[in-house]
Amino acid sequence: MELLIKNCSIEDPVNRYEGIKDIYIEDGVIKRIEPSIKQEADKTIDAKGLYILPGLVDMHAHFREPGFEHKETVYSGSRAAARGGFTTVCCMPNTNPVIDNLSSLQKLLDIIKKDSVININPIAAVSRGQKSLELTEMKQLSEMGAVAFSDDGRPVMTAAIMREALLAAKANDLLIIDHCEELSLAEGGAINYGKKAEELGIKGIHPLSEELNIMRDIMIAEETGSRIHIAHVSTAKSAGLIRDAKRRGVKITCEVTPHHIGLTEDIITLSFTDCKVNPPLRTSEDAEALKKALKNGTIDAIATDHAPHHKDDKSEDFYSSAFGISGIETAFSVCYTELVETGILTMKELAAAMSSNPSKIMGLNAGEISIGKKADLVIVDAARGITVDRRNLVSKGKNTPFHGRHYKGDIVYTIVNGRIVYENI
Ligand code: DOR
Repeated sequence: MELLIKNCSIEDPVNRYEGIKDIYIEDGVIKRIEPSIKQEADKTIDAKGLYILPGLVDMHAHFREPGFEHKETVYSGSRAAARGGFTTVCCMPNTNPVIDNLSSLQKLLDIIKKDSVININPIAAVSRGQKSLELTEMKQLSEMGAVAFSDDGRPVMTAAIMREALLAAKANDLLIIDHCEELSLAEGGAINYGKKAEELGIKGIHPLSEELNIMRDIMIAEETGSRIHIAHVSTAKSAGLIRDAKRRGVKITCEVTPHHIGLTEDIITLSFTDCKVNPPLRTSEDAEALKKALKNGTIDAIATDHAPHHKDDKSEDFYSSAFGISGIETAFSVCYTELVETGILTMKELAAAMSSNPSKIMGLNAGEISIGKKADLVIVDAARGITVDRRNLVSKGKNTPFHGRHYKGDIVYTIVNGRIVYENI
């Protein structure tokens, strides 16, 4: 199978390409990148006026399989990812059963092989059953294909078990992805603690619940000399703690979600439970600080935290509704509009945050357009506008607070291994 992509404006964070190029792909591999390629191919795409980026890499999504197939499956989640421009996704282990042993990991890998149209890399749990009592067999899980370890959805509850996990990760060169939440300050809360919670009479989740846990784990990572990655950073203070830790030489990276950049608590109303997410939507000051932190490199990556839910789990009552936003399909448009259209990031910087940086953090062979590399690519139309409509989402999870909002920047083609897995011309 040969694919020729003509007239490409390449936005690759790794290589510097000047001017318009053609890209020739054979058997899934990029073979030539030249100003004008005259060669027969099975399929030719004209990318005139469009941008071509390395396929997006989402280091944090929930595909719900096994156990919650009514919310999402590998089959539906991978197609939603393709619609969003993602060619690689790392999926969180808070399934049922939890991915915390070799047999559940093997079963998931078999499902991925059978049903996925993109590259999916499982993340395994840090602790058995995500209970913060004993560690999983991290080394063996990693040898089988787990790309990182996380109890995401829940925090690692004790400092002792986090320290043990970080030491084990260091000994085996593994990565811990840290969902930071001090439960004593969060439990029972449904939205951000502060003005909006007071106005609506809803119990708040204090920003300190995230910040204290980040501080704890920075100190442990500093003491053990281990790498650590902080998931879904949502407050200005959290970003400040991470910036200071980086300056001291702590081996720390972090991610932000599109919804913590693009939305704030201001949009929440009493029955708008599609806004319920953990960590909660914060203030506009927080969102502004997170954008700046992306620009100055404090925040390394954008990750979707795609958390699809069935409509029955998203009731109209804030307390009983599930936490989570179905966001993998809207991530690029939201980030392009909020970050590139506003002049905060260049397209190349956005490509770095959404592909090469997460790829590097996870140790994956992705996030780069180079001769000899796998042809995982996304072609975007920066000028094309979209209006988010939950009914059109490919994901089984229709829980999007972006419904009805207009954005710029749409996905035209997603190409995995030289194969077109999504097309909307
Ligand atoms: O809102 C969230 N939903 N935050 C998490 O940490 C977990 C996720 C889920 O699994 O639904």
